[in-house]
Amino acid sequence: MSSFILGAGRVGRTLISVLQSAGEPLSGASNRSEKNAHRTTAELGIPTQASPCPVIPPETRIAWLTVPDREIGAAARCAAPQLHPDAILVHTSGTLPSAMLRSHAPTVGSVVGAHPLQTMTGAPDDLERIHGCHWFLEGEPEALQTITALLQRLGMHTHPIRPESRPLYHAAAVLASNAAFGLHNAATRLLVQAGVDTEDAAAALVPLMTATLSNLQKMGAPKALTGPVARGEVDVVASHLDVLAREAPECEELYRALLDPLLRVAREQGNAAPDLLDAIDRIRRESSTKSR
Ligand SMILES: NC(=O)c1ccc[n+]([C@@H]2O[C@H](COP(=O)([O-])OP(=O)(O)OC[C@H]3O[C@@H](n4cnc5c(N)ncnc54)[C@H](OP(=O)(O)O)[C@@H]3O)[C@@H](O)[C@H]2O)c1
Repeated sequence: MSSFILGAGRVGRTLISVLQSAGEPLSGASNRSEKNAHRTTAELGIPTQASPCPVIPPETRIAWLTVPDREIGAAARCAAPQLHPDAILVHTSGTLPSAMLRSHAPTVGSVVGAHPLQTMTGAPDDLERIHGCHWFLEGEPEALQTITALLQRLGMHTHPIRPESRPLYHAAAVLASNAAFGLHNAATRLLVQAGVDTEDAAAALVPLMTATLSNLQKMGAPKALTGPVARGEVDVVASHLDVLAREAPECEELYRALLDPLLRVAREQGNAAPDLLDAIDRIRRESSTKSR
């Protein structure tokens, strides 16, 4: 079944490459701008139109709308009237239900929402990371089966997701991915407050964060957790909450919010005595009441 990629951006270009390397048929692609359309043709060797509403070749049976979320409705309205009656419209948004496509394209064959749980920045790493990526899908039954089978042929892991659970699902994805930036920013500011040069602070924290994620990948939670909560160091945690309350109140809130999930992991790990973890939980709750 021939795929057309409407929006050859970060996700669209990665999808084109993966489809090409698996020998899956492609009928074309589009960018909004001339410059990016030329780049897609030159780099990926696929005929690429420069238009927000490209002409979709008649052999197309899957139209991937890999445009920003706010443009998906317009892209569906553009593509649907041009498509074969059996064609499938797919978007790759994390949070929008596939039914939103049906509301913009009532006559289209069928609709699916298929979200890759991965971060794509447009760098060459994207292609490596998309291999074996976990996709979460929902949509109309037959089309869902077709897209699931296609993704599996491409070597992806596929999982069903309930349409009504998409916002919760996407909140989890954002927490897992973007939270690292929030934590890096907060920790950098604390190091700067402690007298470290800004650039040194930002750079020094990355190997620590990378090692933590690598441990999580290799050993999993709870085994890989280290630090004062895992060791049941009540006084250390108390001193952190105390200094943060005085010198960086916005980070105290963040630190305290993380204690709840960290205590859950530490309890599962079982290295620290339960009464020490109870004591940390008590100071967490007391400091929360104090800060109100
Ligand atoms: N990036 C990620 O990490 C990631 C991960 C999972 C899912 N997603 C989802 O995948 C979808 C695409 O995201 P992305 O990050 O790949 O976006 P992106 O890099 O910004 O690419 C969007 C593409 O759509 C084109 N476009 C923009 N406005 C358009 C319009 N009005 N009409 C037609 N085409 C238009 C752009 O053309 P130009 O190139 O000419 O600007 C570009 O090719 C979104 O639904 C997003 O939520 C993204």
